[in-house]
Amino acid sequence: MPPRKKKSNNNDKTTVEKGGELEVKMSEDPSPVPDVSSNKETSSGNIGDLPGIGPATAKKLRESGFGTLESLATVSIGQLVAVGNLGEATSSKIIQAARDALDFGFVSADEILERRRNMLKITTGSASLDDLFGGGIETGAVTELYGEYRTGKTQLAHQLCVAAQLPRELGGLRVDGPIKVIYIDTEGTFRPERILNMTKRWEGDLDVKEVLKNIMHGRAYNSDHQMVLAEKAAQASQSEPIGLVVVDSLIAHFRAEYIGRGTLASRQQKLNQHIHTLLKMAEVGNMAVILTNQVHSKPDMFFGDPTSPVGGHIVAHASQTRVYLRKSKGERRIARIADSPLLPENETVFAITSDGIIDVN
Ligand SMILES: Nc1ncnc2c1ncn2[C@@H]1O[C@H](COP(=O)(O)OP(=O)(O)OP(=O)(O)O)[C@@H](O)[C@H]1O
Ligand SMILES: [Mg+2]
Repeated sequence: MPPRKKKSNNNDKTTVEKGGELEVKMSEDPSPVPDVSSNKETSSGNIGDLPGIGPATAKKLRESGFGTLESLATVSIGQLVAVGNLGEATSSKIIQAARDALDFGFVSADEILERRRNMLKITTGSASLDDLFGGGIETGAVTELYGEYRTGKTQLAHQLCVAAQLPRELGGLRVDGPIKVIYIDTEGTFRPERILNMTKRWEGDLDVKEVLKNIMHGRAYNSDHQMVLAEKAAQASQSEPIGLVVVDSLIAHFRAEYIGRGTLASRQQKLNQHIHTLLKMAEVGNMAVILTNQVHSKPDMFFGDPTSPVGGHIVAHASQTRVYLRKSKGERRIARIADSPLLPENETVFAITSDGIIDVN
């Protein structure tokens, strides 16, 4: 996340959904998301100070969403040529200059450990679930929640939208300014009413109107739309204190649009690109990215585990932590760490109530 700051002006442009155009809007308050063209902020230096970048190129880069050294150092030449409207040689030089400025290359394990100390954790609302995750949902990483319908993927995602806004001492990300959340909703299941209910238990610590205002909701109507919203989220994260990005659900549109074996390769290619945007955003911006995913549910299937998540290797490799949710009695649900570079394969029980995710008493 960029350094916390107060919102400075209202002149920022916004993209609005009209006739198939794109939108990222606040869940309640229609305040616009700032356009990156107004972004003067950089996380580790000014892109205008790079050798070979004059004011006009810097402006062009900012307008294309490359306002920080990190965004330039991690883009591919092809992408910068296409998006930044620059020549190949210029793009290559700019990327190299940004990498040099950031001292990109190998780092020692003790430095990685130090960086991981900057990693924060967001509470799930349930102490036992937090324990399962080693303290909560990590920032700087992609966490995938997968399971059958009604297992609580969307509920947990809503809960995290609220919890991310809590002060750090209560399990959120807030220090001295608001934390924003982006919710990319592919199924139309985001409900601000649930946010209201889930905020109640922190009445003294959270202002419900602020909580709603800080959630930017983007309804994705197809996979291309979903991909553009993720790119917009990555751009917004350069100037806004975004702590959490939710994609609920990751694959539904891709599955519906790319039907049949013949389209599998192009589907996976698009999905790969989309996931890469999300992964990079999580790592570069130190924010939590939550993806929800469905499971193969065909009982007559001959190959593979019928309870494995869809999306194949591409999704499997991108999600650092994979969490399998399943139903238990009544409001109870079971969460299992299915894959993690750090956590053991454990499971725990939690409950979904009208007030949100809680421990089972
Ligand atoms: N207001 C509420 N009070 C109590 N429980 C609720 C409330 N709203 C939803 N739930 C619980 O959450 C369940 C739905 O969970 P959720 O929407 O997270 O499922 P999901 O895993 O996202 O499913 P899908 O794959 O269909 O999107 C409901 O079946 C219900 O048990
Ligand atoms: Mg859902």
